[in-house]
Amino acid sequence: MAIRQDTKNFVASLLAERTLQSNYWKEHSVNPSVETMMLDSQAPKLDLEERPEILSLLPPYKGKDVIELGAGIGRFTGDLAKSAGHVLAMDFMENLIKKNEDVHGHMNNIDFKCADVTSPQLDISSASADLVFSNWLLMSLSDEEVEGLTSRIIEWLRPGGFIFFRESCFHHSCDNKWKNNPTHYRQPSYYTQLFEQTHIQEEDGSYYEFELVERKCVGTYVRNKNQNQVCWLWKKVPSLGPEVKSFQQFLDTQQYTATEIMQTTKEFANMLDLKPGQRVLVGCGIGGSDFYMSEEYDAEVVGIDLSVNMISFALERSIGRKCAIEFEVGDCTKINYPEASFDVIYSRDTILHIQVSHCPPFFISDYCRAPGTPSEQFASYIKQRNYDLHSVQTYGQMLQRSGFIKVHAEDGTDQFVEVLKRELSATEQERDKFIEEFSEDDYNYIVNGWKSKLERCANDEQKWGLFVAHKPL
Ligand SMILES: C[S@@+](CC[C@H](N)C(=O)[O-])C[C@H]1O[C@@H](n2cnc3c(N)ncnc32)[C@H](O)[C@@H]1O
Repeated sequence: MAIRQDTKNFVASLLAERTLQSNYWKEHSVNPSVETMMLDSQAPKLDLEERPEILSLLPPYKGKDVIELGAGIGRFTGDLAKSAGHVLAMDFMENLIKKNEDVHGHMNNIDFKCADVTSPQLDISSASADLVFSNWLLMSLSDEEVEGLTSRIIEWLRPGGFIFFRESCFHHSCDNKWKNNPTHYRQPSYYTQLFEQTHIQEEDGSYYEFELVERKCVGTYVRNKNQNQVCWLWKKVPSLGPEVKSFQQFLDTQQYTATEIMQTTKEFANMLDLKPGQRVLVGCGIGGSDFYMSEEYDAEVVGIDLSVNMISFALERSIGRKCAIEFEVGDCTKINYPEASFDVIYSRDTILHIQVSHCPPFFISDYCRAPGTPSEQFASYIKQRNYDLHSVQTYGQMLQRSGFIKVHAEDGTDQFVEVLKRELSATEQERDKFIEEFSEDDYNYIVNGWKSKLERCANDEQKWGLFVAHKPL
């Protein structure tokens, strides 16, 4: 009896969501236009700037099968169809998809379909698409609907296929006034975790999952409005099964908390002699250095971190701040920025996770270790953290071997110890405030972490290296 009531409630809530969303879109699609698609009075300007940006984030889709969900009047449909082999453009508002067809119907590789993406009768075959594209759709679906759609998308995609989606997060970015807005402005971590957890088992028993290729803020909105516009690109890849965690998930779940570790950015940024407008690539964590360089030096900052949690905190912290920072989840060993994209690359305690030869830094601070064999305890710490630690001297030599010139390698352990002591004492004095802002677990984690680091430095095991290196001209 109880189960039947639960099922009834579930169905009723799905129906209510459908009615709410379709009424909202009926109201907003009376006069279909770019303004109604973007719900913003600056829509034509934003559209011009963001459309090429969004398209540039897509993987190659020349000759491929593309499904566009929530296509609207086709801001993206025509561009997608210019290169794709076939596009299935779908929207649940008849007059929007009709307008899309009026404009793009002459392109004979597009099927226009009026359908609700939550409908179980979409008639899309498994493994029939190379790219699923959606721009501002998932925020019009309830959590249950997003979860159901995600499971179907992984089924529609061929192995190696991609899903790109872009959503407004945290709160709205548009300037249109409306009475009832049923849009779900979620935390970016909601989408990331959902896609990270999604798996499919094919008929032959093999597993597939989504691998995050990129997640970033839409630069157009960063420049014109805020950091709330976030997009993701995921690839369908073979998986060993739902339990096996990637390195990215390790960073998100094992190591870090919501707490910023140190505030020495000021000293280091001064060493770099930053100029307004210079483009800086920062291994960003939760964004402290990024905010400082953007706000104090008016630098154009791109903050990159492999940890989804770090970027989520950075995004949350950027609410209400006026700064030009593009935050991006990405692996610096894989991302290919165009040549000469940055004036400065700033990396703080990041490279220890990866092979040094992969990354071209100008200023680096990093954890190092004393030469010789580490003690059992220190070796187990290095292993638990998955670190790749070297002595300061070896690290400098590695930079030189990677092609950098004028490499300056300095043992900054004394400075590190000073900073740790300062931070420890300040945090201990502000214990109650800290716990109120974060949590007691965060407090214990960070204070104990600092104490252990101080102990390792006192035992002459852990070192901190400061490096400045130059790219040959
Ligand atoms: C903000 S507009 C974006 C349109 C287009 N992607 C763009 O960027 O210009 C959202 C679109 O999603 C469509 N939509 C919302 N919920 C939908 C659903 N459940 N099924 C299909 N389309 C939906 C709306 O009708 C609308 O056209």
